[in-house]
Amino acid sequence: MMLNKILFPLFFCILFHFSFIFNFADANQQEAEALIKWKQSLHSHNQSFLSSWSRSTGFTAKNSNVINPCHWLGVGCENGYVTRLNLTNVGLTGTLYAFNFSSLSNLTFLDLHDNNLFGNIPSSISNLTKLTSLHLGNNQFTGKLPLELGKMTTLTYLNFINNFLSGHIPSSLGNLTSLSHLIVGNNRFVGTIPPKLGNLVSLKELRINLNNLTGPLPPSIGNLRGLKVLSVYGNKLSGSIPKEFDNLTNLTLCFFSNNTISGSLPAKLCQGGILQDFCASNNRFSGTVPKGLKNCTSLTRLRLDRNHFVGNITEDFGVYPVVDYIDLSYNNFEGEISSNWARCKNMTSLKISDNNITGKIPPELGLATKLQYLDLSSNQLVGVIPKELGNLKSLFNLTLSNNKLIGNIPNELGNLLDLASLDLGGNGLNGTIPEGIGNCLKMINLNLSRNSLSGVIPWQIGNLVNLQVLLDLSRNSLSGEIPLQLGKLDSLEDLDLSHNNLSGQIPSTFDQMQSLMSVDMSYNNLEGPLPDGKVFTNAPLESFMGNKALCGNITGLMPCPRALNISKRNGKDLVILIMTPIIGVGASLCIIVAVALYLLKGVKREKTRRIGSHRENMFSIWSFDGKLVYEDINEATEGFDTKYCIGVGGHGTVYKAVLSTGQIVAVKKLKTAQNPGFVKGKNFEAEIEALSKIRHRNIVKLNGFCSHAQHSLLVYEYLERGSLGKLLGNEKEARELDWEKRVNVIKGIANALCYMHYDCSPPIIHRDVSSNNVLLDRDYEARVSDFGTARLLCLDSCNLTELAGTYGYIAPELAYTMKPTKKCDVYSFGVVALEVIRGSHPGDLISPSSSSSVYTSSSSSSAISDTSLLENIPNLIPKDLLDTRLPYPSSGLAHEIAIIIKLALECIKDDPHVRPTMQYVCHQLQPTRKLALSNSIGKIMSWNEGECSSEGAKSMRSSSCSSGHKVDIV
Ligand SMILES: *[C@@H]1O[C@H](CO)[C@@H](O)[C@H](O)[C@H]1NC(C)=O
Ligand SMILES: *[C@@H]1O[C@H](CO)[C@@H](O)[C@H](O)[C@H]1NC(C)=O
Ligand SMILES: *[C@@H]1O[C@H](CO)[C@@H](O)[C@H](O)[C@H]1NC(C)=O
Repeated sequence: MMLNKILFPLFFCILFHFSFIFNFADANQQEAEALIKWKQSLHSHNQSFLSSWSRSTGFTAKNSNVINPCHWLGVGCENGYVTRLNLTNVGLTGTLYAFNFSSLSNLTFLDLHDNNLFGNIPSSISNLTKLTSLHLGNNQFTGKLPLELGKMTTLTYLNFINNFLSGHIPSSLGNLTSLSHLIVGNNRFVGTIPPKLGNLVSLKELRINLNNLTGPLPPSIGNLRGLKVLSVYGNKLSGSIPKEFDNLTNLTLCFFSNNTISGSLPAKLCQGGILQDFCASNNRFSGTVPKGLKNCTSLTRLRLDRNHFVGNITEDFGVYPVVDYIDLSYNNFEGEISSNWARCKNMTSLKISDNNITGKIPPELGLATKLQYLDLSSNQLVGVIPKELGNLKSLFNLTLSNNKLIGNIPNELGNLLDLASLDLGGNGLNGTIPEGIGNCLKMINLNLSRNSLSGVIPWQIGNLVNLQVLLDLSRNSLSGEIPLQLGKLDSLEDLDLSHNNLSGQIPSTFDQMQSLMSVDMSYNNLEGPLPDGKVFTNAPLESFMGNKALCGNITGLMPCPRALNISKRNGKDLVILIMTPIIGVGASLCIIVAVALYLLKGVKREKTRRIGSHRENMFSIWSFDGKLVYEDINEATEGFDTKYCIGVGGHGTVYKAVLSTGQIVAVKKLKTAQNPGFVKGKNFEAEIEALSKIRHRNIVKLNGFCSHAQHSLLVYEYLERGSLGKLLGNEKEARELDWEKRVNVIKGIANALCYMHYDCSPPIIHRDVSSNNVLLDRDYEARVSDFGTARLLCLDSCNLTELAGTYGYIAPELAYTMKPTKKCDVYSFGVVALEVIRGSHPGDLISPSSSSSVYTSSSSSSAISDTSLLENIPNLIPKDLLDTRLPYPSSGLAHEIAIIIKLALECIKDDPHVRPTMQYVCHQLQPTRKLALSNSIGKIMSWNEGECSSEGAKSMRSSSCSSGHKVDIV
């Protein structure tokens, strides 16, 4: 008896232990098999990545028949059971159909976000009865959410952001009462917000933004008293905000924007005193500013723009010590601009345009020195522009147009060295245009039109070589000659000098304004010939009518005397103009031109002097992480010894450097002729900084820049596998680069080009795409290098021929236009794509600058006159287009390769106009899935910047690119 009592627990204990081991082995085995089965269902390129997921690893000492998945990549265990699976951003491609959820029912954590998973979310996912956290965001899932999700009551975190899910948001989600995060933004959900979501009393974050949801916010939302983040922007919501909303005293972020919500804002907004970001823009809200906002000192951003708000706002707003961004534009507010705004010391953007604001601009605004964006346009403002605005050194957009401002334009605005856009149009400003404006070298948009400005156009405006969008001085009383320095504005696209009293000739330097797309010189006193250049010959008569005696080849204008026309064909027209007095150009013009030339020279001399003084400064180095020091690099490469040289590119020699920190970098030593470090100054720094901020999986990261008296260095991340060109030239390595990898490489290059052409502002043209400028990382992912370098080296001016790219990849038209365009990159891409498929440069197939490319002309014997044939019959790809070192591609791949060849052949067409855009190429290469995703993200990003983000203030800066996947934040 006694013995029994002792033995029993002992026995039990052992049995328990035994059964535990037994279960462990069994369950564990089942879990392992389930994972392997799922792995096998994924696309083959995942197989190598998940190589640890294999039956042959993880033998335990105790029992060699047991597979132990607990050491597999991304797998976490507790007590021997698989409880966590974390595989984010690893390129998983496939579905969840083969995922046996029942066998993995011990999972508490499943995170597969940032992959390429597609298909439906299976209802069997609800068999994960212990799951607390599920993150499937940033994939390409489609279909409806399974109602069974409502059974997963252990969930606290649920995230499906950025997929293509459709149908209704299931009411059954209201059963998940432990949920603290429900994040289903940026899908295609329709229908109303289920009132049952009001049961989710633990909810802290509810993000259902960017769907197609309709109807009002349900009153039950008031039950979510712990809610900190509510994001419903970008739906089709209507109705008014329910009064129960007042219960949400814990709100810190609230985004209502881009819906059609009406009624007034909750009066008690910010009653919790912790509201930071409130965004109601672009709705149908009416009424006055809620009282609660006045003392809301936690506010960092407030957007009420594009609604029907009314009321006198003079005293409605308080002092917000941390506020960054205020936008009240496009409403019916009246009253005055409070000097309180000046006490918002951290404010970077203040936008109150398009209201009915009266009174003067308070000079105190000059104290809000962090301001970058000030837009008070389209109101009834009176008085002068306070010269104190010249203290706002960070300002890059100043828009005061369409008010009733009078007086002079303060010369102090010339202190705003970061100013990129100045719009004072449509006021009553008088006096002359201050010369100081010529100091604002970052200006890309200048509009002083529709005022009463008089005097001459200061020649200093010609210094604003970054002017790009618009130079509009129309409808003033400007007189005198048009300064020939304006011809230097070769990025300018739109020039309007109409409706003034300008006299003399249009300077022939205007020939050089290569970017000009629109010009208006009408209603002045101009005479003489129109300059050469497409825009002048293609412009309508209206652009030149109402002048004294303009002549040229435009219907309605009198033709010019013959001699003049001929002389102007010559490139050196300026000199010739001076040299040819026979044509009746008065001596006075000669003098003016001579004086102007002298002045120009003066500018140059000044510049050379500046360069000289920089040179004395032997050692000028800057970098972004502070660790990249010239000496360090110099040491690591033993003074740039050739044994560290890993390549020679268009712009210089590349070295591998292992820095003292252990970091490996690739250092490009620029050719001395292209040593820009001293000359470029702030512009150059800004550009480098912008380029170094670009993050794209297919673009080599630029770490920074070092400048030294002898050489300038661009410092890039180092990539193990070196250049694509080198790899293709190596028998063994080329075999490693199988068809699937090659297709992926081509897609990568296309993605990089699409990104730079369409997601960067202004777009970045590479100018030197070649197989030597495409590097491969360890996983054979393509990374395009040298992006932006061409433009970087051309910031001021440069000899374009020097930078025309690599022979064999240059678009034929570059030979005569010398103006690189996106289509030049498209051409080079086509060549590289063919090279990758063929394994060698297709030079013998394409004969540059002629139309006899073998595969595009129908006369050739092996020609595919109708390239669409390729796509339909992929096993017909001619052998001479394929790399014979590889076996003929499997049918699926052959199909993709055929599409690539077809596209590439279109890309290398001689006529740039018939080449596709990179956007089209990317679209074709990634039918629907990827592209739709990147498009929608692109849309969100631009939308975010424009509509709902303080980033908007920065969106016009040089080369800012939208940043891919970062949508979760809003
Ligand atoms: C798994 O879930 C599905 C759908 O909810 C259900 O029909 C099935 O019975 C479950 N399987 C197991 C083994 O629980
Ligand atoms: C707005 O209110 C201010 C004082 O708060 C007053 O001086 C001003 O006249 C009012 N403006 C309008 C248009 O009612
Ligand atoms: C702007 O305010 C003025 C004076 O208060 C008023 O007469 C005018 O109708 C208002 N205009 C608009 C468009 O609201």
